[in-house]
Amino acid sequence: MSEATQIVAIDGPAGAGKSTVARRVAEQLGFAFLDTGAMYRAATWRALRHAVDLDDPQALAASTEAMDLAMEETPDGQRVLVDGEDVTQAIRTPETTRLIFKLDQNSAVRRTLVELQRRFGERQPTVAEGRDIGTVVFPRAKCKIFLDASLECRTRRRAEQLMRAGLPVDLEKLRDEIHERDEKSRNRTDSPLRPAEDAVPVDSSGMTVDEVVAELARLARERL
Ligand code: DC
Repeated sequence: MSEATQIVAIDGPAGAGKSTVARRVAEQLGFAFLDTGAMYRAATWRALRHAVDLDDPQALAASTEAMDLAMEETPDGQRVLVDGEDVTQAIRTPETTRLIFKLDQNSAVRRTLVELQRRFGERQPTVAEGRDIGTVVFPRAKCKIFLDASLECRTRRRAEQLMRAGLPVDLEKLRDEIHERDEKSRNRTDSPLRPAEDAVPVDSSGMTVDEVVAELARLARERL
């Protein structure tokens, strides 16, 4: 089966700290790290770059299938390349972020990206984070975590990330956007955001990054 390799599946809403934490848990375990949100972002960026009609599901699917995507871990963090172009920053802009829902609700787009994610996980022990890792991508993963935090807390963390990247922040607008994106993720028909039945819930609201990393690494060691 595709999950003979060891997989830690981390799901949760935007801003729960999944990327930061998952990357560090992967480091501690000596596993590869897979940021699946970056893949939906990359597919969205590519569609915008090629002026694909975002209301044409088939065109979005074709664009995603044609995408040459490379994700590299570097000492400075992850680098994302689409068709050879470095889009590490570009996939995080508010414009791209706002339009991801046009692709992440598209079943053909999801199939293409899920296939890439499964292949990645088959090649090496992996910590994967996203919205449907435990439910759809790796349903047989032995360690599944649903990482959540209050909306206030997630908004604050996202704001800090954006500010570090030198992007302007309007807190109230950001909060509404995160909430709206959550609702879209939770209410879509294909692969809605929800905890897998066998996922361990972790609420990171009152926890430091170090504490969350330690807790997740502990859970992973216990279960794998
Ligand atoms: O984690 P993130 O904010 O970078 O994710 C970007 C978007 O991609 C998010 O709005 C939901 C979507 N996504 C998804 O539908 N499935 C995943 N496995 C990961 C992300």
